[in-house]
Amino acid sequence: MTRRKKIYEGKAKILYEGPEPGTLIQYFKDDTTAFDATKKAVLEGKGVINNRISEFIMTRLNSIGVQNHFIRRLNLREQLIREVEIIPLEVICRNIAAGSFSNRFGVPEGNPLPRSIIEFCLKDDKLHDPMVAEEHITAFNWASTQEIDDIMALTLRVNDFLTGMFGAVGITLVDFKIEFGRVWENDFSRVILADEISPDSCRLWDSTTNEKLDKDRFRRDLGNVIESYTEVARRLGIMKEMPTVIQGGLH
Ligand SMILES: Nc1ncnc2c1ncn2[C@@H]1O[C@H](COP(=O)(O)OP(=O)(O)O)[C@@H](O)[C@H]1O
Ligand SMILES: [Mg+2]
Repeated sequence: MTRRKKIYEGKAKILYEGPEPGTLIQYFKDDTTAFDATKKAVLEGKGVINNRISEFIMTRLNSIGVQNHFIRRLNLREQLIREVEIIPLEVICRNIAAGSFSNRFGVPEGNPLPRSIIEFCLKDDKLHDPMVAEEHITAFNWASTQEIDDIMALTLRVNDFLTGMFGAVGITLVDFKIEFGRVWENDFSRVILADEISPDSCRLWDSTTNEKLDKDRFRRDLGNVIESYTEVARRLGIMKEMPTVIQGGLH
């Protein structure tokens, strides 16, 4: 027996070497962190739900032409993905003021923004993911001007799609964070969507009650974190294979 090679272990996921060159296996952990990992917990079953929700969303994005790293789900916690050269930016898209945006600009949480706003933060926990401008991104060669344009266009398409998808099931998409990476074909590179899209990386509010159905339940100690993630999955119609999961067998 040989042990598979662990490429990287992050806060919420582990990347293993994939079965073919250029592929990786993304394993979703139950570990949950907030505030630069100063707050930590293990929420049993979270990885299973996020694996499934991210699969659902990435598959649909692919079908509308938003290319991404998802190839196929392998099991409850793992998905096969295309390996990319990660662009070290957290790309945030906001429709309604919340979280750090409200703090930074003094806009009360819940205020709709005049238009969707895209922000870039450097992906660096030690530096607390500082917000950066295009000037910094191009000066430090984190991404080119063309790549920034592509990232912004793709992010707006993701936002339009997710807003409609969640809206149809009574969920308001407040904001979300996504990551992009480069794939190379001969001498040319292209930017595709990577990482995950799940209640860990989106703010999702019930459209009628404004109840939070996302990671803010963990950040703010509101309780019922898993129940809320499960509710998101249920509304998206992807709970068919979940009951066994919820009843146990989460590992
Ligand atoms: N397709 C991919 N190829 C290579 N790296 C990826 C891909 N998708 C996501 N990643 C990276 O894998 C890691 C996922 O694990 P995560 O627990 O989210 O890590 P982190 O704590 O660094 O955010 C992230 O660092 C993310 O940038
Ligand atoms: Mg991450």
